[in-house]
Amino acid sequence: MAQNLSRKILAAHLAKPSDLKPGEEIYLKVDQTLTHDINAVMTYLAFEAIGLDRTQVETSVSYLDHNLLYLDHKTPDDHIYLQSAAKKFGVYVSRPGNGICHAVQAARFGAPGKLSLGGDSHTPHGGSMGMLCIGVGGMDITTAMTGVPMRLKMPQIIRVNLTGRLRPGCSAKEVILEMLRRNTVKGGLGKIYEYTGPGAAMLEVSDRVTITNMGAEMGATTSIFPADDMVRKFMKAQGREEEFTELYPDQGCSYDGEIEIDLSSLEPLIACPHQPDRVTTVREVEKRKVQQVLMGGCTNGSYKDIAKAALVLKGHHVHEDVSCTCVVSSKQIYKQLMRDGYIEMLLDAGVRLLELACGPCCAIGQSPATDGVAVRTTNRNFKGRAGNPTAQVYLVSPETAAACAVTGTFSTAEEIMGERVHELLAVEEPEAYPVDDSMMIKPLPKEEAAKIQIVRGPNIAPLPVPDAPDQRLECKVSLKAADNITTDDITPASAEFSSMRSNIPLMSQYCYHRYDPGFAARAKELGKSIIIGGDNYGQGSSREHAAINPMYLGVKAVIAKSMARIHKGNLVNHGIIPMLFEDPGDYDRIDQMDELEIGHLRDEIPTRQVTVTDKTKGFTFKARLELSDDEVEVVLCGGQLRYLKKKLQEGS
Ligand code: F3S
Repeated sequence: MAQNLSRKILAAHLAKPSDLKPGEEIYLKVDQTLTHDINAVMTYLAFEAIGLDRTQVETSVSYLDHNLLYLDHKTPDDHIYLQSAAKKFGVYVSRPGNGICHAVQAARFGAPGKLSLGGDSHTPHGGSMGMLCIGVGGMDITTAMTGVPMRLKMPQIIRVNLTGRLRPGCSAKEVILEMLRRNTVKGGLGKIYEYTGPGAAMLEVSDRVTITNMGAEMGATTSIFPADDMVRKFMKAQGREEEFTELYPDQGCSYDGEIEIDLSSLEPLIACPHQPDRVTTVREVEKRKVQQVLMGGCTNGSYKDIAKAALVLKGHHVHEDVSCTCVVSSKQIYKQLMRDGYIEMLLDAGVRLLELACGPCCAIGQSPATDGVAVRTTNRNFKGRAGNPTAQVYLVSPETAAACAVTGTFSTAEEIMGERVHELLAVEEPEAYPVDDSMMIKPLPKEEAAKIQIVRGPNIAPLPVPDAPDQRLECKVSLKAADNITTDDITPASAEFSSMRSNIPLMSQYCYHRYDPGFAARAKELGKSIIIGGDNYGQGSSREHAAINPMYLGVKAVIAKSMARIHKGNLVNHGIIPMLFEDPGDYDRIDQMDELEIGHLRDEIPTRQVTVTDKTKGFTFKARLELSDDEVEVVLCGGQLRYLKKKLQEGS
């Protein structure tokens, strides 16, 4: 039977037979794992607790790339721990300065047909190369590293047929912003977007990464392009052509849905505060004075992105009221940009070049000013994500960002370059990159790895492990949250907060800090509690601390109208029971501090429906649990660590 590309790769990785019907639980063998510094300490602590001596997947890589501002001892403690744990467990280490995880992973390990899991929501970046790359929580990475297959609800596969050709001054960012405009931040839940068509064939890998990376903003499981001549060219430039395999959807294959985008119809787009789907055209958006421009990051820090931004800036200077910075996504790209003269163009224009790290994208430096308007090429503009809740963050392409830097307001590349805007179409990926893997530490042979001592500085606190749920749960509502709560709302980002993530007793004090500063103390005082959530609860970053911190504060369940995939998995893994209102109208009847009771919790969990009584208001409602059989078992065990240990002891 003719198969689409996603189904081909899924079928090749099935650990248990399945006919891949959407909605069915499937089990997949994982080829690669990726972790990064601000999420991974818990991943490796859990791996240590399980007691295996080596990762069981083909390639595991630990990136030290997010927080390179060593404000005090905490982050260096984390990095030393991570480096020593990686050496012990047969994991590659990409050292600080090598680049941002997704860019380096695609360049050095990406290969068509592979299945890669990353402890970061933008892992789908690698889908640009004809592989399936899925973002998950850290405990899922631990699980994959033990060799246990990943479980996934079979997504729908949606074909996105790209036709036409992008106009000068438009780029792949317009494609993904158009997808967000049409599908919204929750339109991709339970879906894989498979890009095809003549328009897709013309996009280079560095264009495609912007689309697959930012597909995460629609809540999609992942996004993928075929492994075609563009992928071959990219892998050849990386000196890895021999690892290339051509991979296309079969002629006449079917999909679960279809979207058409004519690239020539797109014009420069902009996502307005504070959601990436609040998209309009740069032409129509209300003109505001721009205080900050940030170019680069994993979404738009490729050679082509930065070269095009440099060409827009050539012969101009950054406006005197604008702070303009740039994060190139890897060392090899930086070197190539230097060779081709683009770094000089940026410097001449007054752009400040930052370290090769995520940094400002997750509020580690370069926060906008009070009420400041920031124009960024990154992927998220949630309130507070840039480190300042009063900031207004707009998302655009690198070309548009460069134009805004020149004028100090919202502008397009065409407004700056005039007829010269056609020069942007000529920018292509290099034929060869200056490949240098000296910042990548290779795994040690088994005997040498066994001798490694894991180094634990004072910032590495023990891993908190939740208890199994009791039969009766009676507790108050510690928080009633609105729609679209992000994991940034639950666990704020910044250099300071990120450095606390290895120390849950400390970090949990800042849980919901910006959304509701009284939450942590209230939840702690209650001892145990339930959170009530609206639609799309837990969207955004994969950070599992958004589950671990509430768990540590005694949260036993979240009852929401709907929930983001990765966050739901993190709640299950860390012993918080994710529940959904049977009747979303019940959300309105419950208030914060209401007393709730579930009388037969353990008995009801396997039935996937629990009866909840609001004792304060005197009514009863139903909540359902959208959990697989395995997840039910995990919940009853009190989380994935207890479950995994039990399974490994049973030898299953
Ligand atoms: Fe880093 Fe931002 Fe990407 S935090 S991985 S540059 S989304």
